[in-house]
Amino acid sequence: MSVKIDRPAEVGEYDEPLQALLQLVWGDGFLSPGGPEEIARILEGTDLRGRRVLDIGCGLGAVDVQLVEPHGAAHVTGIDLEPDLVEKARARARRAGFAERIDTRQVTPGPLPFADARFDVVFSKDSIVQIPDKRAIFCEAHRVLRAGGELLVSDWLRGGEGAYSPEMLEYFRLEGITYNMASADETRAALAEAGFIDISVHDRSDWYRELARQELAAMSGPWLPTLIETLGRERADHFVTNWRQLVLVLDRGELRPTHLRARKPGA
Ligand SMILES: C[S@@+](CC[C@H](N)C(=O)[O-])C[C@H]1O[C@@H](n2cnc3c(N)ncnc32)[C@H](O)[C@@H]1O
Repeated sequence: MSVKIDRPAEVGEYDEPLQALLQLVWGDGFLSPGGPEEIARILEGTDLRGRRVLDIGCGLGAVDVQLVEPHGAAHVTGIDLEPDLVEKARARARRAGFAERIDTRQVTPGPLPFADARFDVVFSKDSIVQIPDKRAIFCEAHRVLRAGGELLVSDWLRGGEGAYSPEMLEYFRLEGITYNMASADETRAALAEAGFIDISVHDRSDWYRELARQELAAMSGPWLPTLIETLGRERADHFVTNWRQLVLVLDRGELRPTHLRARKPGA
């Protein structure tokens, strides 16, 4: 079920204040939690050295820099819907000295603009949650992977099914970005329908529930003066309320950060 937030078409979902807030909480260039450590966890057991990687929903691009250094990907293609994010991700890759190894592209929703079997690994960090048709995006991921290639994803899944609770709807309203959440069962089924095998689903809720609580304590305590200075009082207060709601839906088990792994059959 999709929840879309109405805003003028020319304004991206990740406006400057939201980018600033998320980077204050999650680190420079990150629009999702956990930083380098969480990326290393998603990659555990997979050697990226010499591999061509597609990153779906690259955001500000800190993830792509990590995939190259320290993880050693030969080449990363980062794609995102928002031109502002893509431009900033491209600048970040250039500043890191990886202009030749990271290609950042704006895409539109729908089929991926790449030939079949072009990548060894498809990676994504907390972005599939925004994409409405899970089967379609996993079919596209499968198509652009070479035989035997791997899908390594962190995603924000939902607990339960049917109508969202009032608490979740309030969280979406406060957050102000589009959510299209699927459950673990729906995600597993979509991966299998797309042709993936060796599917594993690993719930990371315990980790993020605890971290989000610490983030909320910091936002409403020691970080508050910086939030107010950066964003103004009104927006700073809004984001503290937003995080309180995030902690609530994590506690209720309705929002479940999860790692997914799967493989395309073949060599
Ligand atoms: C929560 S952010 C995560 C960004 C980045 N992966 C990170 O961890 O910092 C989700 C990103 O997915 C992007 N996104 C949403 N729908 C997308 C789609 N259909 N194709 C590509 N990117 C998409 C958003 O614009 C946003 O940058």
